[in-house]
Amino acid sequence: MVRIGAFLVGLFFAGWLLISFLVGAVAYVTEPPQPTVEHEFHKAPRHVSFSFDGPLGKYDQAQLQRGFQVFKEVCSACHSLHYVAFRDLKGIGYNEAEIKAIAKQWAIKTPDVDPKTGEMTTRDPVPADYFPKPFANNVAAAAANNNAIPPDLSLMTKARHHGSAYVYSLLTGFQSQPAELLKKFPDAKTPEGLHYNPYFANLNLAMAPPLTADGQVTYGDGTRSSVDQMSKDVAAFLTWTAEPKLENRRRAGLATIIFLLIATGLAYMSYQNIWADKKKKA
Ligand code: HEC
Repeated sequence: MVRIGAFLVGLFFAGWLLISFLVGAVAYVTEPPQPTVEHEFHKAPRHVSFSFDGPLGKYDQAQLQRGFQVFKEVCSACHSLHYVAFRDLKGIGYNEAEIKAIAKQWAIKTPDVDPKTGEMTTRDPVPADYFPKPFANNVAAAAANNNAIPPDLSLMTKARHHGSAYVYSLLTGFQSQPAELLKKFPDAKTPEGLHYNPYFANLNLAMAPPLTADGQVTYGDGTRSSVDQMSKDVAAFLTWTAEPKLENRRRAGLATIIFLLIATGLAYMSYQNIWADKKKKA
């Protein structure tokens, strides 16, 4: 009796599964999922090679300094870099005097409290300060940027897939909407105030192309500052801000692998040694 009951319950569930599968399959055929504009026109980041690619890659200090210059002269008007302090710039090769001067001359000042009156004031940043935010708060940031808040860039290259290539592709990827897109998705026209960019997840972002002209930044080291070069340099700089210890991490990883290889060799040799006479007998 119990057996038949269990059999019926099993049969019921198997039938149920089969029917739901059939219903799903019919729906898939009669109403196939609609193609979305993002699905068809979003692009994976472009291929770009950096000195820090691969397990033995290293940062190119001159490139990081150029990228910092692009950040300073262009991006910092809108984006914060809140997890990086001026003194951290030692990591890309500036000395203490240079860092002091960079902090002092920074266009955005550090908020402070007047020690006598308690009123809010601002002062020149010092090396121990984090990079000051360009907007007082998110409301001000959104008001100045077509209702979008420019995100903090400190960890941006970690927050996106293939972050370094992504930042480079985004900066070089602004273009007009392909005619083919508008033909296929007439409703997907880029809204007023947004900018089409196939590397951005939803294809339209509130940032206007920040790097538009060759020579926008004049590099101290004589490198030609094409839009492509500036984009690559600032992408490298933002990789460093997100992972300043990348080289140490890789060195430690390599040392660990070598150690483990040696340890494996030793373990194998002692295994052979311990079992040597037992094996002979067999
Ligand atoms: C005039 C202000 C402005 C400037 C200058 C600017 N940005 Fe932006 N940026 C924005 C805004 C606003 C957004 C948010 C866009 C959105 O969410 O639609 C943004 C978003 C971004 C994003 C995030 C995209 C994502 O996947 O979410 C990156 C990366 C970025 N900017 C990099 C840069 C770099 C690098 C520079 C300097 C070369 C720069 N921006 C200069 C306003 C600016």
